[in-house]
Amino acid sequence: MGDTGKDGKNSLSIRDNRTGREYEVDILEGDVVRAMDLRQIRVNEDDFGMMAYDPAFSNTASTRSTITEIDGGKGILRYRGYPIEQLAERSSHLEVAYLLLKGELPTKDELDAFVEDVTFHTYVHENITEQVGGFRYDAHAMGMVISMVSALSTFYPDAKDVDDPAVRWQQIVRLVAKLPTLAAYTYRHHRGLPLVYPENELSYTANFLSMLFKIGTKEYKPSPVLERALDVLFILHADHEQNCSTTAMRVIGSSRSDPYSALAGAMAALYGPLHGGANEAVLRMLNRIGSVDNIPAFLEGVKRKEERLMGFGHRIYKAYDPRASIIKRTADEVFEVTGRNPLLDIALELEKIALSEDYFVERNLYPNVDFYSGIIYQALGFPVEMFPVLFAIPRTVGWLAQWQEMITDPEQRIARPRQVFVGSDVRDFVPIADRG
Ligand code: CMC
Repeated sequence: MGDTGKDGKNSLSIRDNRTGREYEVDILEGDVVRAMDLRQIRVNEDDFGMMAYDPAFSNTASTRSTITEIDGGKGILRYRGYPIEQLAERSSHLEVAYLLLKGELPTKDELDAFVEDVTFHTYVHENITEQVGGFRYDAHAMGMVISMVSALSTFYPDAKDVDDPAVRWQQIVRLVAKLPTLAAYTYRHHRGLPLVYPENELSYTANFLSMLFKIGTKEYKPSPVLERALDVLFILHADHEQNCSTTAMRVIGSSRSDPYSALAGAMAALYGPLHGGANEAVLRMLNRIGSVDNIPAFLEGVKRKEERLMGFGHRIYKAYDPRASIIKRTADEVFEVTGRNPLLDIALELEKIALSEDYFVERNLYPNVDFYSGIIYQALGFPVEMFPVLFAIPRTVGWLAQWQEMITDPEQRIARPRQVFVGSDVRDFVPIADRG
């Protein structure tokens, strides 16, 4: 509940100056008022009533959630109450997945069972495997994965029963398990290499790296440092509360679509350069800048609004994105093994100069999770087209946790925002021959 006021009331008094009428609406936990409470405010009895106007949902809470907490001003990110720094340091991606999906950290037995379940669902139907060959050699990895995830819904028609918890859980395990397989297939297709099937004795990330980079029958063993670095990146990307793609997942799921279709929609939202496509855009930007000497001219273009400094800024964080600090440390560990990515020097200098410029300081623009992740992905051997896919694999967990919460929330119904119609008043149809 919000703080109780002087008169002991937890409410907001609203005076409508058009009518002189006064209204009192409750203030709920989180300092929110119910938008529906505004509906009683009207001039005439037959008016529709007042709505809140909020394009891009900048100040609208669409749900009450127990999954992820962000304090953008203080740079805080917690999953189910656990600070992201502790999870990145001490946990694994599948343990974090369990936490996000179930609400609590697993016991050893629970984690073992979950890991085994995920491991044994990594194979995809051979007909999906054949679908890979239908894409052009240069098809974007994200477009391919979105199509294959969407196609999975046709293989699991039982997934439509979204109100059955057991059915829901089965699809959750399948999706968490199969995303790395589908992602690896796109890479192999792009390279013209035969597909590599999952190997069940490997960890989640080692198996993914094996499906990507294994050549011939030789055993593939990734460096433990790189395997762990990828796991940490997965933990950092696993959830981020009500962002664009998660909202897409919830909105599509609210019509009771199956989770494969909803997740394909969430992935499509993630694909955009202002969201999960930003890591790819950062790499392209750093390549375009080319050298430290070109940074001042580039930043002048940003300030003139001819360019956007990709990997900077966030709707919620108005301080340093805590994920960016962890990623910077992970980058150092990765470069110990792979050698330094020369783009890092450009990125570090770009950050240094940008953070000292009034334009960025005044607007609270700091590096976000995507500023450094691409540089690591490139050092790990991923082509830029794979970057958004590398975001989608771990975010699948968050999308599913949020979808599950939405499905089981008795307050949620099919998502359906309102509009303020500002178009033409009624007018008569004019035959084409009479139009000017
Ligand atoms: N470079 C230059 N100027 C910027 C940037 C940027 N990256 N981000 C915001 N601004 C400016 C913007 O032009 C505006 O200036 P003014 O007040 O003069 O009009 C001001 O800062 C506020 O920006 P906004 O566009 O109103 O902020 P938003 O909350 O709508 O946008 C954002 C958030 C992430 C879309 C935006 O910061 C952006 O486009 N960043 C670059 C893309 C990026 O890195 N996206 C990844 C986000 S983190 C991972 C994820 O969630 O997917």
